[in-house]
Amino acid sequence: MSSDDTVVERISSFVSGNKRGVIIGAAAAALAVGGVAYYVASSRVGGGAGDEESLGGAKKKDKKRKKHKRSAKDKDGPVLEEKKPKAAEESDDDQVLTEEQIQALETGERKSLAASLKQKGNDAYQARKFAIAAQYYTRAIAVSPQPEPVFYSNRAACYVSMEPPQHENAAADCDEALKLDSRYVKALNRRATALEALERYEESLRDYTATTILGNFQNEAAGRSVERVLEKLSKKKAAEILATRERRLPSHTFVSAYFSAFRPRPLPTLPESPSIGDNTLIISLEALGASDYAHSYSLVNESIEQGISWDSGRAEALNLRGTFKFLIGDTDGAKVDLEESVQLAPSLTQSWVKIASVHMERGDPSKTFEAFEEATKHNASDPDIYYHRGQVLFIMNDFDKAAEDYTKSTELDDTFVFSHIQLAVAQYKSGDVAKSMATFRRTLKAFPDRSEPQNYYGELLLDQQRFQDAVEKFDRAIELERQKSPMNVLPLVNKGLALFQWKQDAQAAERCCNEALRTDPECEAAVATLAQLSLQQGKIDTAVRMFERHTELARSEAELGNALTYQYASYAQLKFIENYPDLAGQLSQMARSMA
Ligand SMILES: *[C@@H]1O[C@H](CO)[C@@H](O)[C@H](O)[C@H]1NC(C)=O
Ligand SMILES: *[C@@H]1O[C@H](CO)[C@@H](O)[C@H](O)[C@H]1NC(C)=O
Repeated sequence: MSSDDTVVERISSFVSGNKRGVIIGAAAAALAVGGVAYYVASSRVGGGAGDEESLGGAKKKDKKRKKHKRSAKDKDGPVLEEKKPKAAEESDDDQVLTEEQIQALETGERKSLAASLKQKGNDAYQARKFAIAAQYYTRAIAVSPQPEPVFYSNRAACYVSMEPPQHENAAADCDEALKLDSRYVKALNRRATALEALERYEESLRDYTATTILGNFQNEAAGRSVERVLEKLSKKKAAEILATRERRLPSHTFVSAYFSAFRPRPLPTLPESPSIGDNTLIISLEALGASDYAHSYSLVNESIEQGISWDSGRAEALNLRGTFKFLIGDTDGAKVDLEESVQLAPSLTQSWVKIASVHMERGDPSKTFEAFEEATKHNASDPDIYYHRGQVLFIMNDFDKAAEDYTKSTELDDTFVFSHIQLAVAQYKSGDVAKSMATFRRTLKAFPDRSEPQNYYGELLLDQQRFQDAVEKFDRAIELERQKSPMNVLPLVNKGLALFQWKQDAQAAERCCNEALRTDPECEAAVATLAQLSLQQGKIDTAVRMFERHTELARSEAELGNALTYQYASYAQLKFIENYPDLAGQLSQMARSMA
């Protein structure tokens, strides 16, 4: 086995380690995948707004799950109402009655005939003679003086078990059964199974969710089915959305976090007689310096079209355009630009580092490390290389190695605040809390005017449930950020989260998030936190709106899948409320009790 295999293994265990069953409001259990792109990991310390954990709800659910052991009787498979496994007769004497003959019978006779036909159906089913069983149920339906949901539901079980299965018929029979008795859990579950097989995932999810809620969340199999169908549904929808949607830059907060993860460099010197394109490049870099990203992107694009007259200038331009392409999710386009950039100027290590980012985003760790290797060949004393390699090691949970890289980066240049912060976080993650705290305190002292150490130290304190200290740090970060324009709103969102966890003050938390959104309407952390807050208060309508918004903002496939998971889980709950209005109150009560 090569070392690449272990790297791949570590990546996949990273991903599965971040999969958490998260209870959504009252009903659905969903899968949440943690940040895959490393700058997402870098923007959060502990759990919280950015990474989709329901606000403290998940642990409770685990306990609940353990408490209610699965009852052996209630497995997935269709279990019929009556089980008397007699030897089933292949053919039998009673003849199929015509419509007139049926009409001639008395109600009582029809009832008992239907019951005996149903019994024969059950026996045939037990003997796995599904087609014959279905015929008995059909006859029971015909003679029964009134429609009986169980006849339809049992026939549906036959359709599901036939070879090949007849899922359409099964679903139609369950429709009938549920028209007669909307709380008929077995029929719901059967219809869910049939609809899942037909890849009608939204409807299947609706039924599994109802099964879960009607069963008071004690049906483990249904809970697992909710997770499974949610995952299939959100994967499918994510692929559809990514294939069709127009690419655009992520939120200001996100883009500025990405750019500030590279040390600033001076503007390139123009040649003596600069071309139009050369001048456009300079304007683009100035727009970048002013955080006017959209403008900077179209300008750099234009400069390349106009033509840049010298190689290192062109390499800079391709580096910048490649970065924007990467940020809008066009990894292929980014790769082309960045590779051309390093061809023109091999010592432009920033482009190598970004090539590594592209490989990481594509889930290719071995190529990622090759690109870092290439970068160090060209300039072993560039601190950015070690910082970004540290980030990759960090998301691969290799905190000790990550810490080494952060340290190396600070040794080369100790003016970059993020190397210090990430070092402290890596120390925290590898279990060395005291060391981490000391690193943070040193960083706070060395960067008194920066909000980031305050903000991330606050996250760490929040993770330790030192709420008051955390809120103080967030307040200080907010104060520092308010002097900037536009401000980074993450500390505001964090403060809201802290107030909620500390005092269960949902209103104060919502105020913080709403303020954050007024400043940065595209702040994903604020949207995700608001959605969770609404959900936990049983305000499913608002939650759904927020989840839809989150889906619009989500950038990578993993984030999108995650947002869609919540969105569809909430839709299923809304449907439940619509279909079972009398149980709606109970549902939001459960939501609150779980929060
Ligand atoms: C970049 O330039 C190309 C060609 O002129 C154009 O089609 C594209 O829309 C531009 N992209 C941006 C973001 O300005
Ligand atoms: C290597 O990187 C450092 C830091 O960015 C820089 O000062 C130095 O000039 C670079 N060396 C070369 C050969 O490009």
